[in-house]
This record gives sequence, structure tokens and C-alpha cells, in this order.
Amino acid sequence: MNFYILTLFPEMVMQGLNTSIIGRAVKNGLLNIEAINIRDFAQNKHGQVDDYTYGGGAGLLMQAAPIYRAYEHICEKIGKKPRVIYLTPQGDVFNQGYAEEFSKEEDLIFLCGHYEGIDERVLEEIVTDYMSIGDYVLTGGELPSMVMIDAISRLVPGVLNKQASHEIESFHDNLLEYPQYTRPEEWHGKKVPDVLLSGHHVNIEKWRREQSLKRTLERRPDLLENANLTKQDKKYLQSLKESDNI
Ligand code: ADE
Repeated sequence: MNFYILTLFPEMVMQGLNTSIIGRAVKNGLLNIEAINIRDFAQNKHGQVDDYTYGGGAGLLMQAAPIYRAYEHICEKIGKKPRVIYLTPQGDVFNQGYAEEFSKEEDLIFLCGHYEGIDERVLEEIVTDYMSIGDYVLTGGELPSMVMIDAISRLVPGVLNKQASHEIESFHDNLLEYPQYTRPEEWHGKKVPDVLLSGHHVNIEKWRREQSLKRTLERRPDLLENANLTKQDKKYLQSLKESDNI
């Protein structure tokens, strides 16, 4: 999968994404991540890419032309027009469902704004998806694009060590992950639950499912509305509610 990031701070995104699991996937050729410096597409020799806002107002706005040229450069290079994601608090809030949807694309372009934003006209021409990573305002789109690329990349086949591992984690099927333990068996007087030491796989699976359900009910009950629950799951949740166990 190919990610193209249009930014004024290419080193920021490349440093962040060349580490750990995503960095390894890049080395293995599963992912290709390119940061394109919008400044390289400035028309003037000073590399200026921003200017004052018509109608007044504080701060500078990124101009349309350099961004459009950078976008055209990518499209010409790869011979197609991929989806363009503009990172903005005005967008749809990114979640696991969006990560799954975007991970099916072969190419994605991320457009990172800075300063007070971007001239509306270039957004109208190239942006296909307006995405936010939450209801707060950051200084630019670089961190949001890194967040999205991380979440999307781990869904690309082969990026995670065990292909199945992302499937059983938090938010798969809208349930939170069950608690996990490693050695030692006892730490600070706290013992690993007996069932996990029993070697009885059916009981372990049952315990994990119940812990996922319990955790979701306690911490993110809103997720349960969209979870795929069996009759047995519903019965267990009902028993928790009745016993006031949460
Ligand atoms: N740019 C600034 N704040 C943002 C946010 N919360 N999400 C996406 N892009 C942003």
C-alpha cells in the first residue's frame, strides 16, 4: 500500500513512521510512505507557500497553487488519482471502521494543513475525504495523518506479525480486548487468573469473551450497540447488569 503525505514538515512524518512495526513493514516492502514537501512546489524563489487571508483575519493561509502542483506531481507519477484525505477538525471522526475502509485502497494521499488552513478552492478540487481524529484542535495535520496511517497500515496483510492478531484486539467487532498477563504468575500479591493457567482452551476462550463483554460494558457501553452478540453474550451481559457487578 502506498501513502503520499503532502506536508510542509516531511521530516516530522517520516521520522515518526519509520519506526517500529510500520518502519519494519516499509523495509519489507509491504508499505511505501512518501512525504512530499509542498514548499518544493512553490512558484517563487523564496519558497513561500502562504499568504494573507482575503477579508482580513489573523494568520496566514496556505495557497492553492503549490498544493495543486504537488498533487498533480503524485498523480502523474503513479498514473492515477487516488483518494485525497484532508485532515481537519471539521471532518468525519476517524474510527476503526474508517481504518478498515481505507486499508482496502492501493494508494492514499494525505493533505496536511498548517497555519490558519488552506485556500478553499484547492480543497474543492482535490479532496475526497475530510477527516478529523477527534474534537480538539491541533497545530497541523501531520500528527493526525500519522495516527491514521498507523491505524490503516496495521490492517494491511503481513504488517502485523500474526495476521490474526489485530482481529482479536480492541474494537474488532466493537468489543474491547480482554486483560492479558505474562510472567511471573504472581506480582505485587496479584495472581494470574487460574483459568489462564489451566490449559483448558474452551474455558479460556469463554473467560476471555466474558472479560471483553464486561470491560466493554464498564468502559465503553456505547460500543455494545453495534457489537455482534450471541444469545449467550446477551445473557451474560444481563447477568452482570442484574448483579450490579459493574
Ligand atoms: N488538524 C487540526 N486539528 C485536527 C484534528 N483534530 N483532526 C484532524 N486534523 C486536524
